[in-house]
Amino acid sequence: VSLRPYNTFGLDVRARYFARFASADELRQLLRRPEVQAADKLILGGGSNLLFTQDFDGVVLKNEIRGLEIIGQDDATALVRAGAGESWHGLVEYALDQGLSGIENLSLIPGTVGAAPLQNIGAYGAELRDTFDHLEALALGTGELRVFTAAECGFGYRESVFKNTLKNQFVVTAVVLRLHRQARPNVRYGAIAETLAELGITGEPTPQDVSRAVVHIRRSKLPDPAQVGNAGSFFKNPEVSQAKFDQLRSQYPELPGYPVPGGVKLPAAWLIERAGWKGLRRGPGAGTHGVHDRQALVLVHHGGATGHDLRQLAEEIISSVRQQFGIELHPEVNIL
Ligand code: EPU
Repeated sequence: VSLRPYNTFGLDVRARYFARFASADELRQLLRRPEVQAADKLILGGGSNLLFTQDFDGVVLKNEIRGLEIIGQDDATALVRAGAGESWHGLVEYALDQGLSGIENLSLIPGTVGAAPLQNIGAYGAELRDTFDHLEALALGTGELRVFTAAECGFGYRESVFKNTLKNQFVVTAVVLRLHRQARPNVRYGAIAETLAELGITGEPTPQDVSRAVVHIRRSKLPDPAQVGNAGSFFKNPEVSQAKFDQLRSQYPELPGYPVPGGVKLPAAWLIERAGWKGLRRGPGAGTHGVHDRQALVLVHHGGATGHDLRQLAEEIISSVRQQFGIELHPEVNIL
């Protein structure tokens, strides 16, 4: 089976077996099949955070569990339950339609609901954990369903327990968020306020306004995977000590940095741009792959490249940033 339609880099790799499941029960049945039991398993959502560097000699299981519903509410909040196979942006739109706020800053993030907690998706001043209540997940080993509270998920910056100690052990089947019934616009991120003004939106913005601004920013900076293969930010933003930051600042006075507990977070995009990679195209003709020309943190596949080519480019970027700044970049994308 070609996995080309199932990864947003648009890489033409193959999987030995491919199956879809639309419920926890269907997944359990698949897991009982001998050929599935024996094989390596890859659970796929939207395929928007993956780089395949070779064929997958195992079984790809695509999560297509649907469902969006309000399962409870009090004066201030509502609990929204979403099937893991729903599109994340579909959930954002559902919340807006229901008059609920809290995830509008996470508008237009590609991928599925089930993938969101794995890396605690975040953008424009919000993270999944801000509204997360709990999730349901199926243990690959036993087929049992288990509930994980926020604390049990171990959320961090683009991190959770599912990428670490519990890696490849659970399949998320549903996510429950606690959203606000009263609008709580979060416009701390500078570009949102600027974009609202640019769009002619004055006064207190509604959640729809914030969503519109975020969509506008994303469309202007980030390539649409339907047009150009990519997986969003390829690297995480690194953290350095205050001392390291001061030393870099004396050399690069314009270096941006955001204070975080224990140090300073730097925009990897700035480092990559400074190292000369922004807009690079490689390969025959007009280029098969490279670095996005409007956001240096995004690697792009124009067509005709392999995952190996992209990984090679990522490694060169890592080593050039290491040489120039003494900073180690780490991929944010899952490389297989
Ligand atoms: N910058 C550059 N050159 C560029 C782009 C950015 O120098 O080409 C510098 C600028 O100083 C800019 C700063 O980087 O102010 C931050 O840029 P941006 O707001 O675009 O955010 P980012 O730090 O590069 C992170 C997330 C994105 C998320 C945005 C917005 C990570 C790894 N990435 O990117 O998430 O959309 O913030 O909040 O944390 C993703 O994970 O796939 C993703 C797109």
